Amino acid sequence: MINLVLFGPPGAGKGTQAIFLARKFNLVHLSTGDLLRQEIAAQTDLGRIADEIISKGELVPDSIVIDMIESKLKKPKTTVGFIFDGFPRTVPQAQALDQLLRKHHSKVSVMLCLEVEKEELIDRLLKRGLTSGRCDDADAATIENRINVYNEKTAPIIRYYESQGKYHPIQGTGPIEEITSRLKETVENM
Ligand code: C5P
Ligand code: MG
Repeated sequence: MINLVLFGPPGAGKGTQAIFLARKFNLVHLSTGDLLRQEIAAQTDLGRIADEIISKGELVPDSIVIDMIESKLKKPKTTVGFIFDGFPRTVPQAQALDQLLRKHHSKVSVMLCLEVEKEELIDRLLKRGLTSGRCDDADAATIENRINVYNEKTAPIIRYYESQGKYHPIQGTGPIEEITSRLKETVENM
């Protein structure tokens, strides 16, 4: 199985690139952000909890997102693998993912980290906010908070994968197709 962790700060292009990579390598795309937004749209209890947290740019508790991933991993037994987009968000989530994959006799193959500077992230997210309808893209203060939360809680994951020899930084700026090529090449060379 190939399991890709597509990593990077908010606005790095994880969702965009995950779609291309999923198609190219025939992987199941798992975006915890998308799953949470589906819960919000369906107005479930979980959705109500998530909505409040997401609109502030904070992180949903580990147990909630880990359970979501666990239930998705149980489903398709025939897949070539998964691409994790926006998950893990914390070191405990990364540890839980390793444990879950081990149960399925599998593991994370590689962590692809899209690198984009802060000014460009803010630019991209504000632009996306004009059309995405996402409340967490709408104002500069929430975006700033999301980037701070990334630096504090999510970025430490880099060291976690680095110590396993799985960390691959990828330049996340320039034409979208060029970024896709860089990602593909890294996966093909692993
Ligand atoms: O991954 P994405 O940027 O779509 O996530 C949107 C929001 O969903 C995050 O800013 C965060 O509030 C929440 N989220 C989370 N934990 C995750 C994934 C997303 O709290 N593992
Ligand atoms: Mg996304």
